[in-house]
Amino acid sequence: QTEVIPLDPAQPDAAIIERAATILRGEDVVVFPTETVYGLGADVFRPKAVERIFAAKERPYSDPLIAHIIDEQMLVRLTASIPPLVHELARHFWPGPLTLILPAAPEVPRTVTAGLDTVAVRMPSHPIARALIRAMNSPIAAPSANRFMHVSPTTAQHVYQDLAGRVPLILDAGPCAVGVESTILDLCAEVPTILRPGGVSLEALQAVLPDVQVAKKRPTADEGTAMKSPGQMLIHYSPHVPAYLFEGSDEQVRAAMQREAARYSAQGKQVGVLIATEDIVTFQHSGLHSYAAGSLKAPEEVAARLFAGLRTLEDAGVDVILCRNFPEKGLGRAVRDRLLKATGGKIISA
Ligand code: TXA
Ligand code: MG
Repeated sequence: QTEVIPLDPAQPDAAIIERAATILRGEDVVVFPTETVYGLGADVFRPKAVERIFAAKERPYSDPLIAHIIDEQMLVRLTASIPPLVHELARHFWPGPLTLILPAAPEVPRTVTAGLDTVAVRMPSHPIARALIRAMNSPIAAPSANRFMHVSPTTAQHVYQDLAGRVPLILDAGPCAVGVESTILDLCAEVPTILRPGGVSLEALQAVLPDVQVAKKRPTADEGTAMKSPGQMLIHYSPHVPAYLFEGSDEQVRAAMQREAARYSAQGKQVGVLIATEDIVTFQHSGLHSYAAGSLKAPEEVAARLFAGLRTLEDAGVDVILCRNFPEKGLGRAVRDRLLKATGGKIISA
């Protein structure tokens, strides 16, 4: 059985945090909120507990985990050395949605690093994540709390749908504010390289690291092992139904989505459209299942609602999801990345 306990992020109940910590000390897992998405956590230094993460998610062991910390001491415990850049980045972006790839200390279990000589580290800002790490006085390894390959969870209900019966406890603090996962920045590469765009924008990183690069390689799922960052796999975070990404001007995209929707509807298929608030008038009397993620001018709003939108359409029982494109500025880059993954790269040029 899976227990879901509501918690007030402004005042996390100490007794409930302690109960969660007790479960973690007993080599089991706990789902907790972060500012990006919900995480499925285990103590980094209890390998048996970490194994349970992989079992619950049905995640392959070749996919390494992020270690979540709250202070410098934990960073020191996890790393073999700390590049000077880390302090500069930490000053600007920690606590927050930035994960750094750093040289791993030999003590970090292979279950966490997948045998790499690097470790992913992030200092979350969510008060409940922080309270739990503090109670453990140990870093917590946590991937997103979804089944492997499914859309990441931004509410406790999303987690419950994927992991009910597989985890003892879900701490429910409502929807995650950022809504897309952390930005992963590789500091072990020759030039600092973004392996996964996320909650810290490229523009914000460039202000601190003018030479930051964006990884281009997009290995596909069947390239299998030896994944540098499996988050880069094209098919990942997918809804359970086929999805398509429409590209072009706003007018072209709306017209092409209407045309495609009509074609599917004529085949007796239920169609879901993931749109912007600016598209609502176009689709309001269409009879389609629609979800407006947010304004084209507000990438942070779209990021916060994107995964909930994909899951809402999926839950409505649609046979296909048609997604509009969003501007790539700011968090729009992460939004585009997740839409490419959700659609498996199936782009329709309008
Ligand atoms: O926002 C987030 O990052 C959320 C919350 C829970 O913190 N976590 C998350 O974890 O998204 P996960 O496991 O779903 O994605 C972590 C990504 C994976 O794609 C993994 O391959 C990559 O980080 N990663 C972990 N360790 C790595 C390493 N040493 N080198 C390169 N990539 C690594
Ligand atoms: Mg994930």
